Amino acid sequence: MLHLAQAAVAALAILPSLYSASPLDTTPSSSSASLSARHADTCSSKKKPNIVFIISDDQDQRQNSIGVMKHVQELLVRKGTMFEKFYSPISLCCPSRSAFLRAQCAHNTNITNVRPPYGGWPLFNEFGYGDEWLPTFLEEAGYDVRYTGKLMNGQTVDNIAALPPKGLVDHAFLLDPYTYDYWHPAFSSPNGTVIYRPGEYSTDVVAEIGLKYLDDAAKNPDKPFFVGIAPMGPHAHMPYNTENVFDAPIPAPRHVGAFSNVTLNTSRESFNPDVPSGASWVRELPKNNETVIEYITEYYRGRLESLLAVDELVEKVVKKLDEMGVLDETYIIYTTDNGYESNAGHRRQPGKSLAYEEDINIPLVVRGPDVPQGLIDTDSVYSLVDLASTILDIASAPTPYDTDGSLVPLTTSLRDRAKWEGGTKQFHLTEYWVNAYVEGKYNQPNPFPVNSTLKSLRVVERELGLDYAYTVWCTGEREIYDMTTDPDQMHNLASTLSSSSTKSSYITRLHTRLDALLLVLKTCSGQSCRLPWKSMFTNGKVKNLKDAMKKEYDDYFKGLPSVRYSRCELGYHRTLEAPFWSHTLAYSPEKSYAQC
Ligand SMILES: *[C@@H]1O[C@H](CO)[C@@H](O)[C@H](O)[C@H]1NC(C)=O
Ligand SMILES: *[C@@H]1O[C@H](CO)[C@@H](O)[C@H](O)[C@H]1NC(C)=O
Ligand SMILES: *[C@@H]1O[C@H](CO)[C@@H](O)[C@H](O)[C@H]1NC(C)=O
Ligand SMILES: *[C@@H]1O[C@H](CO)[C@@H](O)[C@H](O)[C@H]1NC(C)=O
Ligand SMILES: *[C@@H]1O[C@H](CO)[C@@H](O)[C@H](O)[C@H]1NC(C)=O
Ligand SMILES: *[C@@H]1O[C@H](CO)[C@@H](O)[C@H](O)[C@H]1NC(C)=O
Repeated sequence: MLHLAQAAVAALAILPSLYSASPLDTTPSSSSASLSARHADTCSSKKKPNIVFIISDDQDQRQNSIGVMKHVQELLVRKGTMFEKFYSPISLCCPSRSAFLRAQCAHNTNITNVRPPYGGWPLFNEFGYGDEWLPTFLEEAGYDVRYTGKLMNGQTVDNIAALPPKGLVDHAFLLDPYTYDYWHPAFSSPNGTVIYRPGEYSTDVVAEIGLKYLDDAAKNPDKPFFVGIAPMGPHAHMPYNTENVFDAPIPAPRHVGAFSNVTLNTSRESFNPDVPSGASWVRELPKNNETVIEYITEYYRGRLESLLAVDELVEKVVKKLDEMGVLDETYIIYTTDNGYESNAGHRRQPGKSLAYEEDINIPLVVRGPDVPQGLIDTDSVYSLVDLASTILDIASAPTPYDTDGSLVPLTTSLRDRAKWEGGTKQFHLTEYWVNAYVEGKYNQPNPFPVNSTLKSLRVVERELGLDYAYTVWCTGEREIYDMTTDPDQMHNLASTLSSSSTKSSYITRLHTRLDALLLVLKTCSGQSCRLPWKSMFTNGKVKNLKDAMKKEYDDYFKGLPSVRYSRCELGYHRTLEAPFWSHTLAYSPEKSYAQC
């Protein structure tokens, strides 16, 4: 027996092949979400799994902030799989969430800031994404979709009625200017009314609405549900009646002081160093005095304490699903939008928006059907873009365009599939185009804003002994860190590149490879985002950085154009980012690449 909605889905599921025929699309066995949606169980009468998606705001992985969340540890980490090398595509809320909601890299959404002209909910809709995004894809795949909490910046009490979100049965999005006020939340509703809850703790209200959505969704047992729950913790507190004030996060009253004995990790090499580090404006930062360090410590405690209400939310959700009898058929996904520096690393104030590990490495924990229990994956490298493609795959939800994501091996069967297809993903692209957001109250860069436009790469091939971070700034500066020996990113290997004694050195050779991979990824789309080495080596002989490091390819890599910008701008303007990758640059075994 085929349910009507499912029949429609099965019919739709053959569509993506028409759209994904890019010239690069040559491998039938790619990990494309839309490809895989075709052979998933759209036709079986088995009910699709439920998905509860919990996304916090600005939570780092690097300093193990989920370590203080004991329910997350007990109910998700121990009962599911944690991914230690999970990343944000762009270290800023709205752009990162937009990339997730479209399963596309930021250079393909071109949502690059939190506000106009380069970002926000109105621009998201202007680009037409409101008609084709995760909620509509899931709705078409037969899901009951509900979402509460923060969706993205620029949903305001004034514009939400005019720009209603599509694909959702019910929603209660946090609305600006109340989004980041811990004690004055305001929410959207499907009939356009704004619901104000002054004097109530934002995270707790979001938890309450999320639980109600689970109850409501369960009233239709024939339909699988997707419930998104997005508390604002541990984001900075921004009182609704102020502008650009980023205060320390406010914990729920019951959690005040819970971490009053926590101190910053002063043994990290990057902790408030005597000698400046990094590049661009980071190199200009003054060393912090004791007053500032004390303030950052308080700020850090506020972050950890504000996470405890998020932790309780997770416990309530798991308990509710258990009571409903659907815990075993539901995926619970816990993640965040971007990381955060809150430990005075590189002399910084609290904040995000850079490409250092603190800003981009984020938590991902998943439990659910066929998800290995207690597994900590320390090597697979994935991002929110990949996670979105994976959710669509799990939901057998086709998309009218080829997404950029690879499938995160959440389940045993996805893990097996990754193995057949040559292993899990081992690289990640981070992009950024706007001024840096420096939070807290001290040492705001002057003049402000500072240009922070950059592109960055993580390559993690630990079994092969390679683990690197590579960044190119719009200023022309470059950074290369060997993450094996320098996890705090304090010794920039790129600083030796221009000296003639290193022309044929390992670092110079490494640089040409990292730069080539970044060249492909910076304009990748679909297949080329998933298999960038294949764009360069169409014969499949080079599958990773280790292969690419072979001496025989030195001249080929040396001859490729390098990644650069003609100047710094706050948005993605293509002409400033030439040259670009083109398939004519692919390696050809017949060609001689000897340098003139
Ligand atoms: C609109 O929806 C909200 C939330 O569901 C409800 O409280 C309110 O009464 C509704 N208002 C109207 C005019 O229907
Ligand atoms: C802080 O105090 C709590 C209990 O109040 C204790 O469990 C924890 O170990 C302490 N942490 C440190 C770093 O002293
Ligand atoms: C402090 O940082 C060092 C170096 O990164 C790390 O080895 C250590 O585990 C950290 N200590 C704590 C308590 O997080
Ligand atoms: C510490 O630095 C902050 C920020 O630069 C400054 O406002 C403050 O006056 C300094 N305090 C002392 C005691 O020097
Ligand atoms: C940022 O870049 C723009 C364009 O190159 C330039 O005009 C501006 O002065 C830069 N701002 C800072 C603070 O460096
Ligand atoms: C991105 O959007 C901005 C502002 O809407 C626009 O100026 C720019 O040309 C777009 N970039 C690309 C590559 O489409």
